[in-house]
Formats: sequence, C-alpha cells, structure tokens
Amino acid sequence: MIRTALFIFLSLLITSQAFAFGEKVRRPKARDFGNVVINNYSEENKEFAVVFPHWLHRAKYSCRLCHVDIGFAMRTGDTDITEQDNNAGLFCGTCHNNEIAFGSVVNSKLHGKINQCDRCHSQGQNVTFKNSFREFRKTMPRERFGNGIDWMTAEDQGKIKLVDFLEGVSFPRKEMERQADFKLEATVEQMPKIIFSHEKHAKWNGCETCHPEIFPVKKGSQPYTMQQIFTGQYCGACHDKVAFPNIDCQRCHVDSVH
Ligand code: HEC
Ligand code: HEC
Ligand code: HEC
Ligand code: HEC
Ligand code: HEC
Ligand code: HEC
Repeated sequence: MIRTALFIFLSLLITSQAFAFGEKVRRPKARDFGNVVINNYSEENKEFAVVFPHWLHRAKYSCRLCHVDIGFAMRTGDTDITEQDNNAGLFCGTCHNNEIAFGSVVNSKLHGKINQCDRCHSQGQNVTFKNSFREFRKTMPRERFGNGIDWMTAEDQGKIKLVDFLEGVSFPRKEMERQADFKLEATVEQMPKIIFSHEKHAKWNGCETCHPEIFPVKKGSQPYTMQQIFTGQYCGACHDKVAFPNIDCQRCHVDSVH
C-alpha cells in the first residue's frame, strides 16, 4: 500500500514537472511570478498589453479587497476593464487616480502633464518602474518557490500590513467569523494528509473568493484530485498562479514523506 502511494506521489511529481517544462511560462522568475497580462483591448487599440504585478499589490492590500469589493475576477481577462472605466474611478482607477496611486496623467509642477501609460501598458517594453522587486524582497522572509517570499510569515511579523477596507468602495462588514482549520484526507491511502488552515485563508481571501465558486460550502461533498489542482482547479485556482506553486508538495502535504 505504501508503495502504491509512493508510486502515485512520484508520478504526480513528474506530471507537475512536465507541466512546468511543457509550457515554459509556467516557471517564471521570482519577480514575474503572479504577474498577469491583461489584453482584451490594448493591442487591438495599438497599446501595449497591461502587466499587473501581484507581488506589489498583495504587499499592500488583501486579496479580498480587490477580488470581492473592487470586483476583479479570479481569472485573467474575465474582468472587462476599459480605460474609460479606470478614468471613471472603477477597477484600476479605484486607486490609480493620483490620490492613492499614480493616474494615467500626472500633473507635475516642473514638467506639466506627464503620461503614465507605459507603467501599466508595459508588456514587452523596457520600462523603469518606481517599485523595485529586488529591493522589496531583500526586506522579506524567504521561501523557495513562487516570489521567493514567505508571505504568511511576512504578515505575521508585521513586515506587511494589508489594507482590507477602502472608504466608499468596501461595504462595512461584521467581524469575520473564525473558521475552524481541518485536515483533508488525500484519496489515496498512506498519502500524507493536508492540513488546511481555513482561518488563515479566510483572513487573506475573505469567504467569497472561495465559496461557492471554487469550493462548495459542505466539506467533502465534491471530491477532487491532485491532477485537477495541477490544472488550475480547486486549490490550483490560486496556488501556482499567485500563491506558492504546486511543486512545493510538502507545504500542503505536511506530514510528508521526503
Ligand atoms: C493604472 C494602470 C493604467 C494606466 C496608468 C493606463 N492604463 Fe490604459 N488600460 C489599463 C487596463 C487594465 C486596460 C484594459 C486592458 C485590456 O484589457 O486590454 C486599459 C485599456 C486601455 C486601452 C484599450 C481600449 C480602451 O478604451 O479601453 C487603451 C487604448 C488605453 N488603455 C490607453 C491608455 C493611455 C493612452 C494611457 C495613458 C494616458 C493609459 N491607458 C494609462 C490600465 C491602465
Ligand atoms: C490590487 C488588486 C489585487 C490584489 C490585492 C490581488 N489581486 Fe488577484 N488579480 C487582480 C487583477 C486586476 C487580476 C486580473 C483580472 C482580470 O484580468 O480580469 C487578478 C487575477 C488573479 C488571479 C488569476 C490569475 C490567472 O493566472 O488567471 C488569481 C488566481 C488571483 N488574482 C489571486 C489573488 C490572490 C490569492 C490575492 C491575494 C494574495 C490577490 N489575487 C490579490 C487584482 C488583485
Ligand atoms: C487597491 C488599490 C489599487 C488597485 C485597485 C490597483 N493598484 Fe496598482 N498600485 C497601487 C499602489 C498603492 C501602487 C504603488 C504606488 C506607486 O508606485 O505610486 C501601485 C502600483 C502599481 C504599478 C507599479 C508602477 C511602478 O512604476 O512601480 C503598476 C504597474 C500598477 N500599479 C498597475 C495596476 C493595474 C494595471 C491595475 C488594475 C488592473 C491596478 N494597478 C490596480 C494601488 C492599486
Ligand atoms: C482558500 C479558500 C477558502 C476560503 C477563503 C474560505 N473557505 Fe470555507 N472551505 C474551504 C474548503 C477547501 C472547504 C472544504 C470543502 C470540501 O472539503 O469540499 C471549506 C468548507 C467550509 C465550510 C463547511 C465546513 C464543514 O465542516 O462542512 C463552511 C461552513 C465554510 N467553509 C465557511 C467559510 C467561511 C464563512 C469563510 C470566510 C470567513 C470561508 N469558508 C473561507 C475553503 C475556503
Ligand atoms: C496547494 C496545496 C497542495 C500542493 C502544493 C500539493 N498538493 Fe497534493 N493534494 C492536495 C489536496 C487538497 C488533495 C486532495 C485531498 C482530497 O482528496 O480531498 C491532494 C491529493 C494528493 C494525492 C492523492 C491522490 C489524488 O490525486 O488526489 C497525491 C498523490 C498528491 N496530492 C501528491 C502531490 C504531489 C506529488 C505534490 C507536489 C508535486 C502535491 N501533491 C502538491 C493539495 C496539495
Ligand atoms: C483564493 C485563493 C486560494 C485558494 C483557493 C487556496 N489557497 Fe492556499 N493560500 C493562498 C494564499 C494567498 C496563501 C498565502 C501564501 C502565499 O501566497 O504563498 C496560501 C497559503 C497556503 C498554505 C500555507 C499556510 C501556512 O501556514 O504556511 C497552505 C498549506 C495552503 N495555502 C493550502 C491550500 C490548500 C490545501 C488549498 C485547497 C484546499 C488552498 N490552499 C486553496 C490562497 C489560496
């Protein structure tokens, strides 16, 4: 039995590597991990596509604030963002309005109006960004994969403090109910169990990022497999994309064999 489990474990490990090598883009550099390219309208309107860096934004805001209150979809391209929306204070324009962050056009006393288009429309361009990933990462606790940053520890240590409420955008909410952590039993006997921290996930993500779209609200009612996770479903809706990647088996399979 142990052998069968080990065999499945190893073949899945190989599958995960195959996923990684089959499509080169799946193993990005630490600074590019979690970057998404938004291009529903840009190139067809002769603009460079938009590169949205998660690392920079998730260091400041909770996932919930953007994905629930502001309304960004959890799949690239699914939100129908236009320049007009942004200029009307929606989506990116909720913050990129020259108050919270730079807007499309910035007024400078010295230089007059300066276009900031290329800071967002940067795909394939050589843009000098104001925020440096390298400098930022130097101050953060390290991890092996993904951004190379241990985001949870960074928050526990107070190195990042996430804004979870924006006046005029977020609805006042009741204090979130504590969610019990639980063990997920892998469907294969002898497989290391997964300890899922419901409470920590809820703190970052809120409830609506997971329920009911990614997970039903009844434990075990919809079984899923590792293969589905590798293809971006269930836990894989976030892990491998923005949260630490699936090759880090032991961070989920905690009582793991080595
Ligand atoms: C804060 C980020 C940001 C800045 C700054 C910005 N844009 Fe955009 N813009 C976007 C996003 C996101 C989209 C949607 C992209 C898509 O789906 O292709 C977009 C879409 C567009 C489009 C596609 C057509 C349309 O009407 O939506 C054009 C053209 C455009 N922007 C031009 C500009 C110009 C010109 C500037 C500078 C004056 C600018 N943008 C500054 C984020 C930005
Ligand atoms: C400042 C806003 C913001 C924050 C904070 C943020 N996101 Fe996003 N996220 C976006 C935008 C914008 C997109 C692209 C949406 C689109 O193209 O329709 C996106 C896309 C995604 C996607 C889809 C990626 C893909 O490859 O298709 C996932 C998964 C995701 N975010 C998870 C998270 C998680 C988890 C967190 C917290 C750790 C987080 N996001 C924090 C704005 C944000
Ligand atoms: C919840 C607020 C918020 C939202 C929503 C948001 N941003 Fe930002 N963004 C910020 C802040 C704050 C900064 C850092 C401020 C600065 O660099 O001036 C920033 C910085 C950036 C930078 C880095 C620029 C540089 O030179 O380093 C890019 C690129 C960017 N945002 C793109 C986007 C795009 C594209 C969207 C929408 C898809 C978006 N942001 C939505 C708050 C937000
Ligand atoms: C990262 C994703 C995620 C977030 C965020 C999340 N949950 Fe869950 N939740 C799960 C998973 C996974 C299960 C188990 C589903 C399964 O086994 O099919 C679950 C199960 C549940 C259950 C059923 C428990 C049981 O014993 O049957 C309830 C109730 C629940 N969640 C409520 C919440 C609430 C309330 C929040 C916000 C405070 C929340 N969840 C946030 C992933 C999440
Ligand atoms: C993001 C968390 C996460 C990561 C990372 C992860 N797993 Fe899993 N794994 C799960 C969950 C959740 C299940 C399913 C639990 C259940 O059956 O309810 C699972 C199930 C499994 C199973 C049982 C059989 C099956 O297909 O369901 C095997 C074997 C497995 N994982 C191997 C791996 C290997 C090998 C890696 C690294 C390459 C890995 N896992 C990385 C969360 C993860
Ligand atoms: C809505 C997005 C989302 C989904 C879905 C999700 N996670 Fe996560 N998870 C995160 C984020 C964000 C973190 C913070 C660490 C990071 O970003 O690398 C995290 C962290 C973790 C950690 C590290 C906890 C710690 O204490 O160090 C584990 C383990 C984990 N997730 C397992 C799972 C499992 C198992 C599932 C599926 C049952 C799952 N996650 C589904 C977003 C998600």
